[in-house]
Amino acid sequence: MTTLVTGGAGFVGSHTCAALLATGRDVVCLDDLSNGSAVAVARAAALTGRPLPLVRADVRDRAAVARALRDHDVDAVVHFAARKAVAESVAAPAGYWSTNVGGSIALVEACLEAGVHRLVFSSSATVYGRPAHLPLDEDHPLSAVNPYGATKIATEQLLRDVCAAEPRFSAVALRYFNPIGAHPSGRLGEDPAGVPDNLFPYLLQVAVGRREALSVFGTDWPTDDGTGVRDYVHVVDLAEGHARALDHTAATPGFVAVNLGTGRGTSVLQLVAAFERATGVGVPWRPAPRREGDVAACWAAVARAERLLGWRAARDLDAMCADGWRWQQANPAGYG
Ligand code: UFG
Repeated sequence: MTTLVTGGAGFVGSHTCAALLATGRDVVCLDDLSNGSAVAVARAAALTGRPLPLVRADVRDRAAVARALRDHDVDAVVHFAARKAVAESVAAPAGYWSTNVGGSIALVEACLEAGVHRLVFSSSATVYGRPAHLPLDEDHPLSAVNPYGATKIATEQLLRDVCAAEPRFSAVALRYFNPIGAHPSGRLGEDPAGVPDNLFPYLLQVAVGRREALSVFGTDWPTDDGTGVRDYVHVVDLAEGHARALDHTAATPGFVAVNLGTGRGTSVLQLVAAFERATGVGVPWRPAPRREGDVAACWAAVARAERLLGWRAARDLDAMCADGWRWQQANPAGYG
């Protein structure tokens, strides 16, 4: 039996393929390579010494998905394939609804038709909107602050409805906090197209000399040092969380949402300091205005992940920084 990983050529997807292969599962990757790399797929296979076939297809192509499910004798799916740039989702929402929600609908229909009833969904802490309390537990109300977030909430609702209608279906929505770092081999990592939107890839490009300085978006937030606080989680921990979630789907039908974070908040300047400590490389930064839509602080309640999945983040900020830096140094132009 095989696990289909949609979006397996992307950042979290490629690390998850490697983690699943390492646990002995057979894996097939489906990706249209619009924001992922065939090199990442080949490297995930090489790292584990296991085959990792790549089906190049759009997740909205239901016939192609159905073929992949049938040809590879798939019994479970991990669904990443989606677009994820917040600003782009505001500028061009229809494309986000089409890929993120339309793609999920096509995938679920193909799964139901093929009798595949186990699905792990790549969701996001963005579904909580502006935090009403911290830490953010899974029962915190959901609210979309941009179209990207709306598509994650809608896909979770789709999965809830499917589980209610088909009692054999099991779906776990994993709500990620801020995944950073890279595979410790330096062979897999984040390869953003263009100017990075997110803090850590931007910081890496400053450290390697590709950009002059990090702009710190707001130094007057109501936090200890005035900069934004987030829950950074090592991408390899996150990948292992998907393996645990897949095990959960084998035993427990129904829908559940689970946070994947460390439960600890780190400010922008604390992350810069941790990076400098872990790598010995300086990161020049300058204060900049707050970024629209940002919140002061956000971190996860992690009890449900521990209780239901037996998962807990094991890698600290030093490992996130050292591993991210190893990847950046070995691959200054990403996958090329
Ligand atoms: N930041 C900077 N400078 C930068 C980039 C970011 O100071 O160049 C700051 C932000 O203001 C924020 C923190 O660094 O305080 C983290 O920002 P990121 O963009 O890395 O991450 P976000 O928390 O804003 O967003 C992430 C994902 C989203 C997801 C969201 C909610 O990128 O997809 O978490 O969980 F929706």
